[in-house]
Amino acid sequence: MELPSVGLGTMEIDDPDAVATALDVGYRHLDTARIYDNEAVVGEGLAARSTGDGGVAGERIDRDDVTVATKLWIDDLAADAVAPAARESADRLGVDAIDLLYVHRPRGDYDPEATLSALDRLVDAGPVRNVGVSNFEIPDLDRAIDVLGRPPAAHQTELHPLFYRPALLDHAREHGYPVVAYSPLAGGRVREVDAVVEVADAHGTTPEAVAIAWATAKEPVVAIPKASSEEHLRANLAAADLELTDAEVAAIDAVEREEELFPE
Ligand SMILES: NC(=O)c1ccc[n+]([C@@H]2O[C@H](COP(=O)([O-])OP(=O)(O)OC[C@H]3O[C@@H](n4cnc5c(N)ncnc54)[C@H](OP(=O)(O)O)[C@@H]3O)[C@@H](O)[C@H]2O)c1
Repeated sequence: MELPSVGLGTMEIDDPDAVATALDVGYRHLDTARIYDNEAVVGEGLAARSTGDGGVAGERIDRDDVTVATKLWIDDLAADAVAPAARESADRLGVDAIDLLYVHRPRGDYDPEATLSALDRLVDAGPVRNVGVSNFEIPDLDRAIDVLGRPPAAHQTELHPLFYRPALLDHAREHGYPVVAYSPLAGGRVREVDAVVEVADAHGTTPEAVAIAWATAKEPVVAIPKASSEEHLRANLAAADLELTDAEVAAIDAVEREEELFPE
């Protein structure tokens, strides 16, 4: 899949205006999940800009220019549960088709053969455009590639200066699929990481911008920071253009403190 370097993470966003503002300032990838309980909010924000007269600028956004991504939770992964759950997500989002539907975690009712085959049938039938996976380890990814007969459309995984997973990036490069870095700001904790703060000071920018630039400089990574204010939304989108030196990237790669925010 072609995904923009920076998309919008929407976990905990409960105001459609934040989603609409993100679209106004240029976001074209919206990430939600059934478990966030806000698919309808995301759908409302999208509809506010893709139907009628469109946004504050009066320009209507083409729905097809936006990648709408959501995830099936671990109790929606049995073969006969996948199709109804996907349909319910699409209805809550108010879209005919979900552009990218992920297995949220390979846990609970997940069975590689049954779950992924059921998801693949939805691609053929139309309500899902692409099948992604999230929180997979390399053996899970290899099994998924075997079952699908192709790589996942994307792998969404936790990735930030306090949780760097180079082996997962190598695997993605080898098989040719994008990695979507979630919690790229470590939920705000990048401000506490000396190596990130030093690079930010050198560029006269924020640790958040450096964390996004660090992640998106890595092939084949895109990031989905969550932000609710227009100021943060704009700053995060612009951060992908910040160029770090090889030495700066290496200094952040070498951070030894490790904190996984979302262990299983
Ligand atoms: N697949 C999975 O299992 C999984 C798990 C976790 C998350 N995710 C996805 O990843 C997305 C992002 O992760 P996340 O929400 O955990 O955390 P995050 O993006 O790492 O950090 C979000 C926090 O940083 C703040 N922030 C954003 N931009 C900022 C800026 N420019 N300057 C200062 N602070 C800023 C936000 O505040 P404001 O809101 O006030 O701007 C919010 O408190 C989620 O929304 C979700 O879509 C996926």
